[in-house]
Amino acid sequence: MQQIPLIDLQSIRFAYPVQSKESAPSALALNDVSLQARQGEYIALLGHNGSGKSTLARHCNALLIPASGRVLIAGLDSAEQGNWRTIRETVGMIFQNPDNQIIATVVEDDVAWALTVRGISAQEIRERVAWAMQAVGIAHLRGMPPGKLSGGQKQRLAIAGVLALRPQCIIADEATAQLDPLARQEIVALLHLLNKDFGLTIIQVTHLLEEAALAQRIVVMERGKIVMEGTPPQVFADLARLRALKLAIPEPLMLAAGLRKAGFRISPDALTVEAIAQELLL
Ligand SMILES: Nc1ncnc2c1ncn2[C@@H]1O[C@H](COP(=O)(O)OP(=O)(O)O)[C@@H](O)[C@H]1O
Ligand SMILES: [Mg+2]
Repeated sequence: MQQIPLIDLQSIRFAYPVQSKESAPSALALNDVSLQARQGEYIALLGHNGSGKSTLARHCNALLIPASGRVLIAGLDSAEQGNWRTIRETVGMIFQNPDNQIIATVVEDDVAWALTVRGISAQEIRERVAWAMQAVGIAHLRGMPPGKLSGGQKQRLAIAGVLALRPQCIIADEATAQLDPLARQEIVALLHLLNKDFGLTIIQVTHLLEEAALAQRIVVMERGKIVMEGTPPQVFADLARLRALKLAIPEPLMLAAGLRKAGFRISPDALTVEAIAQELLL
């Protein structure tokens, strides 16, 4: 049997309701977007502020329903309300502000919360919570009040809460935006680990090119449309286009471009300063 895509967006359009009678009809936040994500894929969804990334992400777990087109999650149509619960268990989301995702007063209760309201047995909740905390590296914090955690630990907690529902996909919507650079790298590394170790499909939403460098595929949005798509070396090869899409070009990419201009052969796969240095040593 041919495997169906885990996420299948078919020509979706979406506009937010107009705020007042006087305001102009709202522009389309998503304008004819099609995107398929395979089971186990790691996709970076890139675009500047307001390009439609969060709107697309919210369509993937039925928080928003398209005005036209279809959204199929593991084959289930998000237009049918009866599918919403399964869809939301299949695709979990992590958001930018870790504080908004905390519900309970103790870490392990917070991880358990979504399971408790689903009426899962106490024994299974204990097992799933222990596993999820272990998987994200917060087992030692189980008795802590979440308010005492660092930003990075709070995002790990949010990921554990989603993992406990045994999703097939996690969408991290700018989940690192409020973290310091080290915590940021650690959360990206954790997403990659979950992808490798558990085969979870990951969609990492970001406006930072450097965060997209390790994805299998980059999808770039602008004005509610997908405007570029490819592997990181393919997408990063067109710096002028990325600049025109209002994306900041990270130092290593500028460096590699400058070296190529000066006659050095730098592989398109060299996306970090370390990798570029290696290329020069060859
Ligand atoms: N709740 C909302 N109500 C009205 N317009 C919105 C709302 N959320 C987003 N938008 C508009 O939809 C467009 C896409 O926004 P969004 O999906 O949040 O982009 P991104 O996540 O890439 O920053 C923008 O023009 C934004 O202003
Ligand atoms: Mg957003």
